[in-house]
Amino acid sequence: MYIYRCGVITISDSGAAGERQDRSGEVIREILKNAGLSVAAYEIIPDEFEIIKDRLVYCADELKIELVLTTGGTGFSPRDVTPEATKAVIEREAPGVCEAIRQHSMSITNRAMLSRAVCGIRGASVILNLPGSPKAVAESLEYVLDSIIHGMDILTKNASDCARK
Ligand code: MTE
Repeated sequence: MYIYRCGVITISDSGAAGERQDRSGEVIREILKNAGLSVAAYEIIPDEFEIIKDRLVYCADELKIELVLTTGGTGFSPRDVTPEATKAVIEREAPGVCEAIRQHSMSITNRAMLSRAVCGIRGASVILNLPGSPKAVAESLEYVLDSIIHGMDILTKNASDCARK
């Protein structure tokens, strides 16, 4: 398997202010490492539209990271703007990924319907929003990671077909 480079961006006002330990970012990095992927970038930023946009573009265009994962800011709070910032930078939507996450998560909690997360492609990078809690992150990422890796294989031409598993 090709070892993809991943970026983890935790989006949280309190996390960025150093008031809260970033458990969700730790969970993501652990899952990625267990899947044999490398974590090339990691940062905690506040729920600010322009900052989120800027860091997503930096990861995709400058660092050439193949999978950029965000955690947090996908709900209904007035400060939650992660999906809007993501939509502003992706070139092609991949709605099925978050549809799958929400469908799976709905079997765990009805609150999953409150996630407004999106997934899409910018150049050769996949950007995926995950919810904010460590539990939700694990339930979401573990469910879709294998399929996302296959999508990246196709995007980056490490695989030419879409053989069903
Ligand atoms: N998805 C899973 N799998 N498990 C969860 O516990 N929590 C939900 C939802 N998705 C949850 C989940 C809740 S309570 C909210 S408010 C939304 O994700 C948005 O979370 P965020 O604002 O922290 O991004």
